[in-house]
Amino acid sequence: MGVTQLKGEGLVAALDIGTSKVAAIIAEADTVAAAKVLGVGTSFHRGLHRGEITDADAVAKAVMEAAIKAERMAQTAMPPAIVGIPGSFCSSFTARGSAAIKRPGHRIHAADVERALDAAAAMAIPPGRRIVDKLIHTYLLDGQRITESPIGLAGRRLEIDVQFITAPLTALAELVKCLGQAGVQVDGVAVQCLATARMVLAPSQIELGVVLVDLGAGQTDIAVFRNGQLDTLACLPVGTDNLARDLSAGLGIFIEQAEQLVRELGCTAALKSLADYCLEEDSPRKVLFENMQIDLREYNDVFMARAEEIWQLVQNHISREGTGGSLPAGVRLVGGGALVPGMAALGEQLLGMPIDAALPEKLKSLPEACQSPAYAAAVALAEDRAKSLIELQTVSTSKSASLDVLWQKVRGWLKS
Ligand SMILES: Nc1ncnc2c1ncn2[C@@H]1O[C@H](COP(=O)(O)OP(=O)(O)OP(=O)(O)O)[C@@H](O)[C@H]1O
Ligand SMILES: [Mg+2]
Repeated sequence: MGVTQLKGEGLVAALDIGTSKVAAIIAEADTVAAAKVLGVGTSFHRGLHRGEITDADAVAKAVMEAAIKAERMAQTAMPPAIVGIPGSFCSSFTARGSAAIKRPGHRIHAADVERALDAAAAMAIPPGRRIVDKLIHTYLLDGQRITESPIGLAGRRLEIDVQFITAPLTALAELVKCLGQAGVQVDGVAVQCLATARMVLAPSQIELGVVLVDLGAGQTDIAVFRNGQLDTLACLPVGTDNLARDLSAGLGIFIEQAEQLVRELGCTAALKSLADYCLEEDSPRKVLFENMQIDLREYNDVFMARAEEIWQLVQNHISREGTGGSLPAGVRLVGGGALVPGMAALGEQLLGMPIDAALPEKLKSLPEACQSPAYAAAVALAEDRAKSLIELQTVSTSKSASLDVLWQKVRGWLKS
């Protein structure tokens, strides 16, 4: 792409291809900050519906634009990128894998953990799907459950219970083809909301029970954690675009005007002073907004019906799916929908649990224009990749050899 200068090893890139925008991140893997963001690029498009590519040219063009912008800011070429996939692609299964430790002293090495994980993965991958993420539930060393990493401990048999997340090969292949069209090399895929969960949720929250909600333009990703583990993953086919489409149809206004209303008025309950918008004193229902005359009651009826439905669907998922049990750490809300005025407060009311919609700490170091929860997924993907690079460098005796293994594995997924 535009910039050819290279900054050397340790660069990572991430792409979040959302319904409303593509966000590209270039970052440096850094042992202190994990991913030190060097460049961010955004491009808006309409080539995706419910996570599926409906207009490959539009997506490819948006990816190219976002990547070029990120390259300009980072002053470096974009390395092969990790690409986020929505929860709608994903399903999961749990398996146990084991590895015998035969070396003298029987100390567990990182390679033994890999062997046990490979054994678990080999057992049960559903046809036509690929593993895209994994979450380790339990380690057993000679039959004894251990809570932390077994590396360095001694034992003769290591077993691991692991939850694998899979995605359909056809969808992955289409994604890779579309990115190839944009001139972007793909080095792996990751489940967006799991990467985001790893970045924004504290281990103590996961232990207590917590829900991550990524409220985007077209979809709402949900990850529920109970008893320290991922309990359920879901992707609801609704987002803030539904609010705008309903307002456009209900009030007879252009979609762009409706989108602006969603962003600026949101839930009318959140309006600071309705009087600021009133046209006539005796007609407080009519408000003037950017030269649009809005009937506030109509607006409120249309907006609230959809906003309540979105939270109701989240609630249904939380209460009906999974193992049940309380979620004392509440909800962590990210995605652009977290910025819609009053949306988080409405969710708190309807779900009856606290919702934290604050800007994730990691995003505070981004350029001001990108300091938004809408960038949580893109930054989290970069952070995830940076962390695995750092881990590999720390664990491995031969850095370049282990990186080669990682890249070979990832390329292998995508080719097969
Ligand atoms: N500053 C803002 N104020 C209010 N609302 C905002 C703001 N920025 C974004 N939004 C809302 O968030 C939406 C975009 O959210 P986001 O960027 O998370 O979606 P996406 O990742 O493109 O889509 P998806 O994840 O659903 O595929 C916008 O359509 C808008 O409704
Ligand atoms: Mg998104």
